[in-house]
This record gives sequence, C-alpha cells and structure tokens, in this order.
Amino acid sequence: MQNVRIAPSILSADFACLGEEVRAIDAAGADFIHVDVMDGHFVPNLTIGPMVVKALRGHSDKVFDVHLMISPVDPYVEEFAEAGADIITVHAEAGPHIHRTLQLIRSLGKRPGVSLNPGTPADVVDMIIDDVDLILVMSVNPGFGGQKFIESQLRKIEALRAKIDATGRDIRLEVDGGINAETAPRVVAAGADVLVAGSATFKGGPDAYASNIKMLRGE
Ligand code: DX5
Ligand code: ZN
Repeated sequence: MQNVRIAPSILSADFACLGEEVRAIDAAGADFIHVDVMDGHFVPNLTIGPMVVKALRGHSDKVFDVHLMISPVDPYVEEFAEAGADIITVHAEAGPHIHRTLQLIRSLGKRPGVSLNPGTPADVVDMIIDDVDLILVMSVNPGFGGQKFIESQLRKIEALRAKIDATGRDIRLEVDGGINAETAPRVVAAGADVLVAGSATFKGGPDAYASNIKMLRGE
C-alpha cells in the first residue's frame, strides 16, 4: 500500500480555539493541515480567509493544505501564499482560466492543486496534469463537513490514479468528504494517497485525535 497521508480538516475543529486545535492535530500525527476556505458564492457557506491562515501558521510546521472553494479565485491567491499556504488547491469549476491560476500559484513558489466536484469528470485534468502537484477529488459536494461519501467517486479516483501514474510525476491524489473508518481503506485501494477528514478526526475531542488519525491510516 502507498504511504497514506492524513489531512485533518479544521472545519470540524473548535473555532473558538483554532490555534490549540492545530497544535493538537499536529501532535496527534497529522501530515497536512487542511484549511477549507469558502466564499458563500462558489459554495453555500462562509468560513475563513488569509488572516486566519496567517494566524495559524505559527502553530504548526506541517504542510498547510489550503483548499479554496471561492470564485473568483485569482485575486486572492497571492494573499494565501503570503499567509503561509504550502499547497494551494483551486476548483476546476471556479474558472474562468484554471491554467492561468495554476501558473500563478507556481510563480509564487507554492504547490498547485486542482479540485474536482463530484459532477466533474476525471478528464478535466488532461490539459493541466503537468501543471499540478496535487489532484483533489471531492467525494461530497463542497460546503459542509459531515456529509455522506458519494460512491461514484471511487471510479474517478481509479481513473485519476491511472492518469497520474502515466505522467511518472510525483502528484498527490487527495480525497475530501465523508472519509471515515469504512471509506478510508476503499479510497486508498482505489489509488488515493492523501485523506482529508474533518468529522472523523475531531470526533471525541482532543484525547481521541491520535487514535482517530491512526484509524484513518489503517493502523
Ligand atoms: C467540504 C470540505 C471538507 C470537509 C470534510 O466542503 O472541503 O474538507 O471539511 O468534512 P468531513 O470529513 O466531515 O466530510
Ligand atoms: Zn476541503
């Protein structure tokens, strides 16, 4: 099995003490800190902006995996880069010029990722796969934590794994939404190597984070 990385989504953390929560998941073995940025326009929810990413940056040296669910996205990319994001993932559907946006992220010295909504086919990556370091498959419709995994995305993960392997490049294949003890091994078997998990990481409070992360890793 490939080396699976766990990316707790702080969307399910206690927002009244986010710094502490980030330190707690870092200590509990998180590989990436997954930050969900929502604009109330591209997705029907509002969360956090670059100021919060900047404030949290000092609380962990782990990879900051910033998932932008916003449109337009280009005017904000630089601010998230300056705030300390390591990976900046944008939605293929957020438009209008995904190729340009990925170049912009790369030009700022950050790792570009592209995310696909559940209704978006795998082939959308064909013309940009050489420009990304990560592909994020949304296995729920973006906007909220705690939703049910959409089964059809397993086929998309398999198709994307084949495309990634064909490039010979080191591109992460991340899955986000409804990941838990039951779905984690199935998405890994389909070819995913980064698992985002909000509710499954944070359930039970800080004392449970380490065992929750182990469980997601299949240990
Ligand atoms: C949804 C977000 C996810 C979300 C996952 O739009 O992108 O990262 O927090 O939450 P769970 O793991 O609870 O499905
Ligand atoms: Zn996310």
